[in-house]
Parts: sequence; C-alpha cells; structure tokens
Amino acid sequence: MSHLFSSFQLRSVTFKNRIAVSPMSQYRAKNGLSNSWHLVHLGRFAIGGAGLVYAEATAVEKEGRRTHGDLGLWDDKQIAGLKEITSFLEAEGAVPGIQLGHAGRKASERRPWHNETPVDDEDIRDRQEYPWTAIAPSAIPYADGWPTPQEMTVADIDRVIQSFGEAARRSYEAGFKIIEVYAAHGFLVHQFLSPIANQRTDEWGGSLENRTRFAVEVANSIRANWPTDLPLAFRLSATDWLDGGLEVDDTIKISRALKLAGVDMIDVSTGGIGGKERPRRMVIEQGFQTPFAGQIRETADISTMGVGFLWDAEQCEKLVAGETVDMIALARELLDDPNWPLKAAKLLGDNQHHELAPIEAGWWLMKRHRLLSKLGLR
Ligand SMILES: Cc1cc2nc3c(=O)[nH]c(=O)nc-3n(C[C@H](O)[C@H](O)[C@H](O)COP(=O)(O)O)c2cc1C
Repeated sequence: MSHLFSSFQLRSVTFKNRIAVSPMSQYRAKNGLSNSWHLVHLGRFAIGGAGLVYAEATAVEKEGRRTHGDLGLWDDKQIAGLKEITSFLEAEGAVPGIQLGHAGRKASERRPWHNETPVDDEDIRDRQEYPWTAIAPSAIPYADGWPTPQEMTVADIDRVIQSFGEAARRSYEAGFKIIEVYAAHGFLVHQFLSPIANQRTDEWGGSLENRTRFAVEVANSIRANWPTDLPLAFRLSATDWLDGGLEVDDTIKISRALKLAGVDMIDVSTGGIGGKERPRRMVIEQGFQTPFAGQIRETADISTMGVGFLWDAEQCEKLVAGETVDMIALARELLDDPNWPLKAAKLLGDNQHHELAPIEAGWWLMKRHRLLSKLGLR
C-alpha cells in the first residue's frame, strides 16, 4: 500500500487516507446558513475518496464574516444544516472537518469575482448587501483603499475568544470530528500573530509571546468546549514573505505554544497579511509551501498538513513517505476533479479494480475494466 493511502490517526479519529479537502469558501450562504449547495459541493469530495473533508471558513461571529456569503456558526440555528452535511460525509467514509475563523480587518469584503475589495455601493444596489465596521488588533487598514478597522478593546478580545469556544460546541453538535482554526491568510488570528497587523502595546501585542496569546487563548477556549478525544488543528501562514513580518522561526515557536494548548496538527500555508508591500520574496512553484511544513514538523514535533500548488500524486506520495507532512490538502485540483483521490490511488496501485470507489460506481467500473481488458480495447 502507498503511504498516501495508509490511514492516519489523531486522538480518536482515524482518517482512511492522507488526503484532505482544503477549506474552500463558496460565498453561497445566507445569514451564515448552509444549503444544498454546500451539501453537494462537499459531498462530491467524500464520494471522490478524500479522507478528510473540511468545510469552508466559518465565522464565529456575524461581524467576523469575510463576505455576506460566508458560512457561520454564531447561532444554534446554523447547526441543523451542517449536521445534514456531516452525516453524509461520514456515511461516505470521510471525516467531516470545519474551519472556524474571524475575518478581523478583512471583514466586509466583496466576493472574489467582485475583486475582493471592500463592500461598496454596487453591492447595496445589486444585492442589498451593506458594509459593516471591521475590528482588528490595531487600527491599521488591510491595504490601500480599505477602511480603518476599529482597534479591539480587551472586552472585544475576550468576547471573540469566547465566540470561538461557543462555535466549537456547535461544531460538535453539528457532527464535525476535527476543527481547524483559520490563523493564516491575514484573518483575525493571523492579524494578532503578525507584527505587520498587530502594533498593540498591551499584553496582546509587542513580543512574539504576547502576539501568540490570542491564538493560544482561542485554542484554550475551543479545548474547553470540544471533546478531548477529538483533534484540533490550526492553519498558519508560516511566513508573511515580508521583512518585518512573521518568519518560519516564529511559526515554529507559535506551533510549540499551540501544541501545549492541545493543538494536534498545523496546516502550513503562507502569506496574505496584506499591507502596503507586495510579498516579493514569494516564489510560487509546485508544493512551494511544503518545506515549511517539514521544518515545523521536525522542529516543533507536531503533525503537519502540506498545502498549496499540489496536484501530482507521486509528489504527494513522496511528501508523506518522506515524513515532510502527515497529510496533504488540495483545493483547486479537487475543484477540477473531485475524484482525484480515486485516480491517485489507481496510479499508485491501491485502486486497480475500483475497489475504493463507492460500490454504486465501483461495481460498474470494475465490470467495464474486465470487459475492456478481455476485448483488448484498454
Ligand atoms: C474557491 C476557494 C476558496 C478558498 N477558501 C478558503 C477558506 O475558506 N479557507 C482557507 O484557509 N483557504 C481557502 N482557500 C485556499 C485553499 O484552501 C488553499 O490553501 C489554496 O487554494 C492553495 O491550494 P491549491 O493550490 O490546492 O488550490 C480557498 C481557495 C479556493 C480555490
């Protein structure tokens, strides 16, 4: 058996293989509520053989949404729709995961196909979607042309930490088996971690230890509301790619602190903090973020997930076999082909006769395979 298709365990949860569906915002929710789009979007990845299916960035507070279309778990009413999704994913053999987040100064943003700029008059006119005031560790706009967010008071900080805990309780009630905190790509937890967005002078800013405090308290709050036998992960931006920003050595220290707070896996991405400068140091190539995952895994002694510009099954196999990562996550490749895991398993020799596909498809594919072989057609 390949390494990619070997099982993996975190706490009491076993993933049947090392392939995760990376969280992908759909911008299709209304008032944070999921609908049949989310069920079909996520369900097809379970049918396609992924071991872990993460639901998209889900806001722990209404004001913490990035866009009007984000999913939310700030209200018990949002549990039932998600429960239907987790039941389906589990029945098809995938572990249902959820990414919890707060957008901070990136809140009140337009959808990607409307340029990811702040919500404006066009949204009000075309969709009756109104802007709202964002909060952040410091009153520094995300980028040029963005409104200045409100600096969070200590009461705001305490409330958001508590909201993460309440959303964790709802995640459990909705049937999720792993939570990932969105602490990357310039969202609120990352804003606290990075000196580019956090210029506070109280105990929540300044030294790396102070900047890490919010992430640790979020982990503590989740752990207080989430069963001990279920895993907790964090997605971090290993580097801001900017002078004066987070570097991988900082991220290693952050990972150690998170491990002590009960975090089991770091999903290693990079970038996205915003600011005036372009991240010139960033060079994109296949799997370009995975060396950071390897470094964090080895130095902070914590499981890692590799993500970003991965599509080649042999390369993913090497990353797991070489213990650079414990799992890999794919986003765009799976949008292109939700059956990527089944095809990767075929390529690696673990799914020769379609035995890993759901029987409703696998039985027919196996029969066709035999017939085509007999006829010498394929
Ligand atoms: C449609 C779409 C939505 C995304 N939404 C999220 C999200 O909600 N949370 C997140 O952490 N990353 C999000 N991302 C980033 C992906 O999870 C992933 O890290 C990134 O696309 C790189 O992986 P890839 O090269 O396999 O696409 C999104 C990406 C796409 C394509």
